[in-house]
Amino acid sequence: MKIFIDTANLDEIRKANEWGVIDGVTTNPSLVAKEQRDFKELVREIVSIVDGPISVEVISTDSEGMVEEALDMSNWSENIVVKIPMISEGLKAVKILNKKGVKTNVTLVFSVNQALLAAKAGATYVSPFIGRLDDIGHDGMQIIHDLVQIYKLYDFKTEIIVASIRHPLHVIESAKTGAHVATIPFGVIEKMFKHPLTDIGLEKFLKDWQKVVE
Ligand code: E4P
Repeated sequence: MKIFIDTANLDEIRKANEWGVIDGVTTNPSLVAKEQRDFKELVREIVSIVDGPISVEVISTDSEGMVEEALDMSNWSENIVVKIPMISEGLKAVKILNKKGVKTNVTLVFSVNQALLAAKAGATYVSPFIGRLDDIGHDGMQIIHDLVQIYKLYDFKTEIIVASIRHPLHVIESAKTGAHVATIPFGVIEKMFKHPLTDIGLEKFLKDWQKVVE
């Protein structure tokens, strides 16, 4: 499973990239807004740090506007993946962009049917938001299980990005489903490193080593 970092914060992206564990980045308008930077400049910096797919989202809600924005963004770097919202105008845009060779990530997906339509339209990636589903008492991960099975059955090339991940257990569950990608907030990646026995063990090794040196 590939790991993307779900942030537009350059410090977080740099740190995670140096750890050598990330394959790409996903952003969204809310994450970008937090950074209070010029959008294009910010994306250019992200692209210069991570050598992998970088998802950036359109703001238009009509297919023409989305295609126009997407064509512009896709010129910024060959690693740009354009996020398109899961609405009928969005899928129209995905179909057009697919023919033009622009990679897309259909976002704000909350059901298996939506993801099925996105794959039919030719989306490169689809992003079901599992955490937001869990938040309203639905089982977000069930959608990922179903989708992995359905995409395999019909040999869809669309890759599943498990999005809206809230905690390390979501990452383990994602990996168990066979999803292609998990996009993970920085804080959750940090938590994935941690185990108290690692810290206790390291402390003891270093203490014991002192006896060798003395
Ligand atoms: C995915 O691409 C989105 O940016 C993200 O995962 C949304 O997560 P949230 O529900 O924590 O905002």
